[in-house]
Amino acid sequence: MAKKSATVFFCQECGYESSKWMGQCPGCRRWNTFVEETVSTSKKSAAGSRGIAAFAEKGSAGKAVSLQEITLGEEEKILTHIKELDRVLGGGIVPGSLTLVGGDPGIGKSTLLLQMCRLLAEDQHKVLYISGEESLKQIKLRAIRLGEFTEALQLLCETNLDVIAESIKRERPEIVIIDSIQTMYSEEVSAAPGSVSQVRESTGILLQLAKGLGISIFIVGHVTKEGTVAGPRVLEHMVDTVLYFEGDRYAAYRLLRGVKNRFGSTNEIGVFEMRNEGLTEVVNPSEYMLNGRPEGASGSIVSCSMEGTRPILVEIQSLVCHSNLGIPRRQANGTDYNRVNLLMAVLEKRVGVQLSDCDAYVNIAGGMKITEPAIDLGIAMAIVSSFKNRAIADSVIAFGEVGLSGEVRAVSQAKQRVLEAKKLGFTICVLPKVCADNLEEIGGIRIIGVSTVQDAIDLIR
Ligand code: TYD
Ligand code: MG
Repeated sequence: MAKKSATVFFCQECGYESSKWMGQCPGCRRWNTFVEETVSTSKKSAAGSRGIAAFAEKGSAGKAVSLQEITLGEEEKILTHIKELDRVLGGGIVPGSLTLVGGDPGIGKSTLLLQMCRLLAEDQHKVLYISGEESLKQIKLRAIRLGEFTEALQLLCETNLDVIAESIKRERPEIVIIDSIQTMYSEEVSAAPGSVSQVRESTGILLQLAKGLGISIFIVGHVTKEGTVAGPRVLEHMVDTVLYFEGDRYAAYRLLRGVKNRFGSTNEIGVFEMRNEGLTEVVNPSEYMLNGRPEGASGSIVSCSMEGTRPILVEIQSLVCHSNLGIPRRQANGTDYNRVNLLMAVLEKRVGVQLSDCDAYVNIAGGMKITEPAIDLGIAMAIVSSFKNRAIADSVIAFGEVGLSGEVRAVSQAKQRVLEAKKLGFTICVLPKVCADNLEEIGGIRIIGVSTVQDAIDLIR
């Protein structure tokens, strides 16, 4: 059959498809993101769009079944023995699942996956690591730093997916790593590797291999400046699990965040530290984040944010000083800039703190990014503490959402947050009054319930 081909324009950011070029993408509103790609319209291609229907058993097409008729085998999750990773994955690797690991280049995706492979291979699981980015020698150099490897780990340097598919079908490994999806190509598609249609087609082929043969496949995807997996946001809906590896380039710690998970809860995080011998798990992230906290400094307070099921304590620092500019400078590091502006407006209007002619800088120490509103109260108290130049006692922790009328609103899982604070030796906890009223007695920590920001600010003397 003669292959027909057509050209289509794809937005490289979000995958929006259009038959003609456009300046602005209607999907993601970005400018100049459309690139022309040739797509083949032969039946064999576009594996991605066929989805899971492609693995239906022969003869069962179109027949519906009841839940009782579906039998489950021994589908146990495979433990990676990296606890932080297991948790984010939802308790281990599900056989036949497709996982996308995204992150900035150089953040440690290859290192983490190679470490995972090492432990899996030690456990006698057959693992195949396919790299399109590094030569075998380069992988070996990295592996030497990570420790001993057993022979259950096989390596392959290849970028042609048809060859890779052959190899997977022949070797039948349990777990496959594809590093990275941007380097892979299928001959069915004429577009360059890394383009939307190529990445989508490649993932489609991998999806079929994973579901058809029951192999768990991990796909590495690089992220662009804007924070989306380069081009292939289209990938997110095709895979079962999406994990993002993030962290400050200059800080040693790395966060693995679950964004989508068909087998477990999302928004779980795993915390790692990059060392000379690879990534190590950080068992107590709160302790890690509070390392090196100044004593008795004004503008500093500890707050608590829930990351998935885990409470994490962070230090909020603020510096407020008189501005010499017509428009005062405001800066927020690690938290939402607009939120900081809003809180300053609330403080000015509801508490009467004159901040309008002050420069203000707010920083979450340790380089973590927190957007949970529960740290509002901490931010507000840090700002006032710096403004008044009065230090808040080191043993105080504060959390709560602040509303526009200056009220302090309830947050979820207050008890867990208080317990985490207690564990790390804090003795006074300022929290929303509603939460405090519902809280049972916890020994060793004083609970102060506040219903307005004013009440909390009154505590700073
Ligand atoms: P890498 O896993 O190659 O990143 P990615 O695959 O996400 O692009 O990470 C490389 C970085 O990690 C590099 O800057 C060096 C650092 N690194 C260590 O600090 N210790 C180690 O043991 C290894 C293997 C890497
Ligand atoms: Mg890499």
